[in-house]
Amino acid sequence: MTLRRLLAAGALWVCVMTPASAGPDAVRGEQIYVRCQACHALSYDRVGPRHCGLFGRTAGTVPGFTYSPAMKSSRIVWNDKTLESFLTSPLKMVPGTAMTYDGVPEAKDRADLIAYLKGADKTPECIALKGKR
Ligand code: HEC
Repeated sequence: MTLRRLLAAGALWVCVMTPASAGPDAVRGEQIYVRCQACHALSYDRVGPRHCGLFGRTAGTVPGFTYSPAMKSSRIVWNDKTLESFLTSPLKMVPGTAMTYDGVPEAKDRADLIAYLKGADKTPECIALKGKR
């Protein structure tokens, strides 16, 4: 084997081996979002409010959705930190919330899910919703 081929093989090996240890994985997050879809959708309200536009939004402010008084008065702004805390234990962060869901126990699952939610505004579903407003 020539040196060049050896280097090429080495580079390939690095490419194949690194993704697992890289940061949050939005693609994996999309699979975890299936759990949320029992109650949520990106672009329309269900049992829970829609998630398009979630990042930077103040909690309890989707027009037309009926929130619990607890969520409405929480004054949370949704970002990486607040979502990390809320998704760890919704009832602990917002006592009295109507989101009767135990939370996502695994830290890696939460990080991937948050990465997905952060990118959700770039999905065709959310872009279409923006166009309608
Ligand atoms: C059992 C139904 C249910 C499930 C499952 C559920 N939610 Fe919710 N979610 C709700 C409801 C209901 C609310 C409104 C809570 C309130 O008004 O107190 C809510 C509110 C929220 C909010 C606040 C939104 C806002 O506009 O302020 C976020 C963020 C959220 N959910 C994320 C998630 C994520 C992420 C998952 C998946 C891990 C999830 N939820 C799973 C029912 C659910």
